[in-house]
Amino acid sequence: MERTFLMIKPDAVQRNLIGQVVSRLEQKGLKLVAAKLYQANEDLAKEHYAEHVEKPFFNKLVSFITSGPVFAMVVEGNNVVEVTRTIVGETNPAKAAPGTIRGDYGIDLGRNIIHGSDSNESAEREIGLWFDKSELNNYKLNNENWVYEK
Ligand code: GTP
Ligand code: MG
Repeated sequence: MERTFLMIKPDAVQRNLIGQVVSRLEQKGLKLVAAKLYQANEDLAKEHYAEHVEKPFFNKLVSFITSGPVFAMVVEGNNVVEVTRTIVGETNPAKAAPGTIRGDYGIDLGRNIIHGSDSNESAEREIGLWFDKSELNNYKLNNENWVYEK
């Protein structure tokens, strides 16, 4: 089973959407391993989005992400990066399919509700940035056999 890092962004926290977004992850059958409401400082935001440092939108992105608390999560499941990218939807909420989180809750590219790691390598890097090992819970969901064939 793999892990990924998901973050409900400050726009969705301010819009009181935490519960609805977390609910979708739970309904999907995913396991929450860690979660916290946390306001990132500039260093953490820059490190998190380091791959975009050269992009014209980088400074706006960093100031948005640090503008208020985010709801940071570690989620576990089979093939979890692909599964969560699918339910999150396309980067631009205006183009994201209805039924996806971004497609249902967002309009603007710069207010796109949630972040999800794009590979297992990014996931491990981002989990390490946002969480201490002691914050990760190791437990088994007793409905696992009803979510996965094996
Ligand atoms: P994340 O899960 O947030 O990493 O989104 P993503 O993987 O779907 O997209 P990507 O990593 O390419 O971009 C990171 C974030 O930068 C996006 O979620 C957007 O909020 C923002 N972003 C991407 N492209 C643009 C752009 O052209 N303009 C602006 N203003 N923001 C952008
Ligand atoms: Mg990304």
